[in-house]
Amino acid sequence: MNQTTTRISGEEIARQKDFCAQIKAMNAPLPARPLAFVDTYGCQQNEADSERIRGYLTEMGYGFTQDEAAADVIVINTCAVREHAEQRVLGNVGALTHTKRKNPNQIICLCGCMMQEPHVAEKIRQSFRHVDLVFGPHVLWRFPELLWRIQTRRGRIFETPDEPGSIAEGLPVRREGTVKAWVSIMYGCNNFCSYCIVPYVRGRERSRRPEDILSEVRELARAGYKDITLLGQNVNSYGKDLPEDVDFAWLLREVNAVPGDFLIRFMTSHPKDASERLFDAMAACEKVAPHLHLPFQAGNDRVLRAMNRGYTREHYLGLIRALRARIPDIVLTSDIIVGFPGETTEEFEDTLKVLKEVRFDALFTFIYSPREGTPAARLPDPLSREEKAANFQRLVDLQNAISAEKQAAYVGKTLRCLVDVVSEDPRHNLNARTAGGRLVHFSGDPALLGSYVRLKITGASTWALFGEPAD
Ligand code: 5AD
Ligand code: SF4
Repeated sequence: MNQTTTRISGEEIARQKDFCAQIKAMNAPLPARPLAFVDTYGCQQNEADSERIRGYLTEMGYGFTQDEAAADVIVINTCAVREHAEQRVLGNVGALTHTKRKNPNQIICLCGCMMQEPHVAEKIRQSFRHVDLVFGPHVLWRFPELLWRIQTRRGRIFETPDEPGSIAEGLPVRREGTVKAWVSIMYGCNNFCSYCIVPYVRGRERSRRPEDILSEVRELARAGYKDITLLGQNVNSYGKDLPEDVDFAWLLREVNAVPGDFLIRFMTSHPKDASERLFDAMAACEKVAPHLHLPFQAGNDRVLRAMNRGYTREHYLGLIRALRARIPDIVLTSDIIVGFPGETTEEFEDTLKVLKEVRFDALFTFIYSPREGTPAARLPDPLSREEKAANFQRLVDLQNAISAEKQAAYVGKTLRCLVDVVSEDPRHNLNARTAGGRLVHFSGDPALLGSYVRLKITGASTWALFGEPAD
């Protein structure tokens, strides 16, 4: 058991809430309610973190705006996984010099994984002088105190301690919707895949206590949430650091036993830790969505070894067979990296073979992006940009063909779907999800939001299904 996980005390969180109250009192004399703009890049964990930032801001008395120029406080929650996201953040932060020039009292805060990279924090310090507050994921729970210090003393604050990470319970949460909710079950990652920055910026794996997770799920079910996603970088290692003898398969069964009519989703699973015990639990739990997102990254064993993934292609394929034996209609999705340093085009073709063998419903595909400080960034990378782009295109074309075929097979079926979005699109004003997570567009009464409807699938494209109410 890992004894080092620090749990932030209730008194510490109460102290943060005192800072919220002090900021609220400071803002009270303002002629209008102060406004905050919160922008989120990257993964669902970041979305969940932003819900906590919004929760704190709500306690401070802030309303929310989508307009940077109208905001008194701007918070940008950043992602470091690939360079493209980083460039977008830097571009958008650069543009905020204009809003700040118009409103010099505007407070600009940057947080999230990118801020935990020393070279990025240094760049912000030197070249983005309009940014007031920079803080990393480890100190998110101290956001009220940091904002209070900015508001009372001005001057800039950089708070990005490099630590294994802690667990803070009891932060206020302001969720975006009323249908879908994220529940973090663990934080951090111990896997050190050689291309990935996450373990360096989010610290070591640490699990929330089962009773804290279960009481959050109970509350969400009582509040009427219908789609609950359990989050962690590697949910399959849940519980390894806890004194209780628990694992993720056990947790799934416990969450499944919470009363209510809701679906349970989870991400992300690592193939090295996915077990038949997990598949048994998925098959046995009626609330667990028939969907597994199981990133395989590459189909060649040498490349998988160089990525430090800890499994072979055969092991991965065996997992898929074991899962399909239990849940034949399981929806499968995966992540793939094309152009890992040293991956030859021949090795890349092993990835295509896995696609043909598994026939995923959908894929998230990425071109390798070197991350400073990771081992892969130091490897020789002889394949040209053009060759990588060509391989990437072959991958996308193959998957699109498979997705289109799999989607077409839904046509004519009638499925129970959860209506989760009211859209502006006049052709089909509602979006729903099948239990397996496939998107269905249809037209209907917006009051259906948050309810289950039986939809007859009438059409399909690569990305979406089209349907109509069956009764
Ligand atoms: N370059 C490209 N893709 C990456 N991912 C993680 N790190 C990198 C990187 N350096 C992808 C992986 C992971 C997903 C969340 O992002 O496929 O599963
Ligand atoms: Fe990154 Fe690998 Fe951890 Fe996923 S399992 S967050 S890819 S190091």
